[in-house]
Amino acid sequence: MSKMKFEKILEPCQLGPLRIKNRMVKTASGTASAYDMGGFVNNRHISMYEALARGGAGLIIVEMGGIDPPLGLHNRFQLLLNDDEHIPGFAQIASAIHKHGGFVFQQLFHAGPWHDPHSGYQPISSSSMGAEEVLGLIPSEVPAALTGEQLPRGLTIPEIQDIVDKFAATAERAKKAGFDGVEVNCGTGHLINSFLSRIWNKRQDSYGCQNMENRTRFAVEIIQEIKRRLGNDFVVSALVNVIELGHDKATTVEEGQEIAKYIQKAGADCIHARANAYSGLPEIIRSEQYFYPEPPQPLIKELDWRRQGAGALVPLAAAIKKVVTIPVIAVGRLDPVIGEEVLREGKADFIGMTRRLLADPELPNKVAAGKFEEIRPCTACLFCTSRIRTYQPIACQVNAALGNEAEYVIKPAQKKKKVLIIGGGPAGMEAARVSAIRGHKVVLYEKGHKLGGLLPLASLVKGHEGEFLMEFVHYLERQISMLGVDIMIGKEFNPSVLNRVKPDAVIVAAGGIPTIPDIPGINNNNVVSIPKLHGMLKFWLRYFSPMTLGWLTKYWMPVGKNVVIIGGGLQGCELAEFLVKHGRKVTIVESAETLGEGVPERKKHPLFRWLKKKGVVMMAGVKYEEITDKGLIIVTKEGERRTLEADTIVPAVPLTPNNKLYETIKDKVAEAYIIGDCAEPKVIIDAVAAGYRVAITL
Ligand SMILES: Cc1cc2nc3c(=O)[nH]c(=O)nc-3n(C[C@H](O)[C@H](O)[C@H](O)COP(=O)(O)OP(=O)(O)OC[C@H]3O[C@@H](n4cnc5c(N)ncnc54)[C@H](O)[C@@H]3O)c2cc1C
Ligand SMILES: Cc1cc2nc3c(=O)[nH]c(=O)nc-3n(C[C@H](O)[C@H](O)[C@H](O)COP(=O)(O)O)c2cc1C
Ligand code: SF4
Repeated sequence: MSKMKFEKILEPCQLGPLRIKNRMVKTASGTASAYDMGGFVNNRHISMYEALARGGAGLIIVEMGGIDPPLGLHNRFQLLLNDDEHIPGFAQIASAIHKHGGFVFQQLFHAGPWHDPHSGYQPISSSSMGAEEVLGLIPSEVPAALTGEQLPRGLTIPEIQDIVDKFAATAERAKKAGFDGVEVNCGTGHLINSFLSRIWNKRQDSYGCQNMENRTRFAVEIIQEIKRRLGNDFVVSALVNVIELGHDKATTVEEGQEIAKYIQKAGADCIHARANAYSGLPEIIRSEQYFYPEPPQPLIKELDWRRQGAGALVPLAAAIKKVVTIPVIAVGRLDPVIGEEVLREGKADFIGMTRRLLADPELPNKVAAGKFEEIRPCTACLFCTSRIRTYQPIACQVNAALGNEAEYVIKPAQKKKKVLIIGGGPAGMEAARVSAIRGHKVVLYEKGHKLGGLLPLASLVKGHEGEFLMEFVHYLERQISMLGVDIMIGKEFNPSVLNRVKPDAVIVAAGGIPTIPDIPGINNNNVVSIPKLHGMLKFWLRYFSPMTLGWLTKYWMPVGKNVVIIGGGLQGCELAEFLVKHGRKVTIVESAETLGEGVPERKKHPLFRWLKKKGVVMMAGVKYEEITDKGLIIVTKEGERRTLEADTIVPAVPLTPNNKLYETIKDKVAEAYIIGDCAEPKVIIDAVAAGYRVAITL
């Protein structure tokens, strides 16, 4: 791969009056970081956008900016540009980006019917909708957005005209703030799309769907009004759903092409080609998720399914390119390799990326420098977008600095130290990577036969539908060996190592300890204990990749046909998915009140829906009484004593902290730290962040 020539993607390209230095575009991504709910830009935004610009992206589209609060907001911590008082903050973003030679657009956004369901305001749309219609539309990715409790109401013509004015006035503010253009969000299920889509638009007036002119009128008026006020030097890009999936009135590609022609005629300089899915289909915007947990069948023919969803939407950009002369942005799990191919084939003019750049803002610079192998991969875990859904500021599983760029700076160490790290899981490897970059001499002890800690095991259990954990493990392996970390594989640390290595600092990242629940009968033969299961799988993972082992377990596993999983958190839910895919009948029981603790919000809904469809019984709030040779005896939330019959019982409860080693050595070295699951068992994002945080302070 490193030999591949990235010529097209690095080539400058014209967009309206702008000569963009390369064809890599950072597509808009909300950060939910406006912490005072006033929608003001703060230092988190400025440093994040500066990091993206420093990383070399030619064009950065800034996250959705609300034009009409309190309506039209996606979440209560999003940015607003509805008033001049916001201009100075946006000006700081623009200048931070310009400083590094990038161009910057502001996304103009009105959520319309997908308004924040917790805001207490009635959403607006092209037309009013009844509860049944709306509930039928709920896309899998937005479980709560349309609850049927807040039905959208249709707009009057004066209201439409007022919103056209608000879009244009917001564009004017963007220009005053120094932005080079705007992206008008006419896609997803948002307000403008509610006019473009026959699913939503039932109007009979001049904004209805009787013909394409009426159907596109709202979008066209917005674009024309921005152009009228700001002139041709100010660029307007339009984000559109070229196709909608999952409804008999959904936009077809042919209609998407017609819409694009009207948008070009209105004066737009660029079209960003996206799609949207309804009615319980998996999400299509982050197109690899279409395969999670299982792809719906048949896969629709209009999209490209050759790479498990990566690049699936490229045919939409190609279809638009056939009918317009302005540049087209493609998006959807693209990376430099797919991007280069798409550009060479003339299927798009720009390669839009969000998560690849959140995971590694330096991606464009690394491509330009021929350091492709050094790009930190996005694992598609969806923590970033799940955090926004739950009103928390953005964070990334693999890039601990995301959203914390100003504080999480890797600076050369003032005093170079000898750092000993115990454990080659994500926490230990990230600590090793960052310590080594800072100039410390790092030795890493890993008692297992491979690096990665629990990740190969997690990867095996998770499968490879819509998540790619091993890419991150391989990246960390490459990085720490390139940085000269002394990797002691197959070497268990014990305190005598201290005398040999004589470290200045020790970081204990030895992982958590499997928990054995205190239930009578837990040692029975029908219980597959987690230490036993982990030990066995880790043994085979010495010889096989998680993918191959996953395939081999289709033929044999030490698990009967009928399984009860004790523990409905992340591990239990993933194990259930794995076992169902291996033909087992599964019941999940959990003592807490809710299931799915630790599962990213965006994955929880599709996973739970799929588990239910597959007949998995899921019970929360239960008390575990006893394991017998028949199965597990429980008391349900309602107080009923029941035996859940099972051939095999698998406890999958959270790990326990493991501080014995730390306690033994902490007084024997100048500095000692305990991080990751070892300190507090959580998930990968926490382990990586802990590794990063400790290493920048050494
Ligand atoms: C089945 C399963 C599925 C999971 N799925 C997910 C998921 O989907 N998403 C998610 O975010 N998290 C998931 N997790 C949790 C995630 O794997 C952990 O939170 C993460 O691996 C913790 O990283 P760590 O580096 O702290 O510890 P670990 O990954 O446990 O690594 C610790 C390392 O230390 C080594 N070690 C221990 N003692 C010594 C010693 N004395 N000397 C040398 N080396 C030693 C171990 O061999 C191990 O390699 C899952 C966990 C499991 C078990
Ligand atoms: C955290 C996050 C926030 C997003 N916010 C927005 C947004 O504000 N506006 C928008 O049009 N798309 C948004 N998206 C969608 C992205 O722009 C992009 O279309 C999608 O992530 C697919 O591209 P990718 O596979 O390169 O991530 C967001 C995506 C993510 C991951
Ligand atoms: S949080 Fe996960 S999905 Fe989002 S950018 Fe980071 S690795 Fe990718």
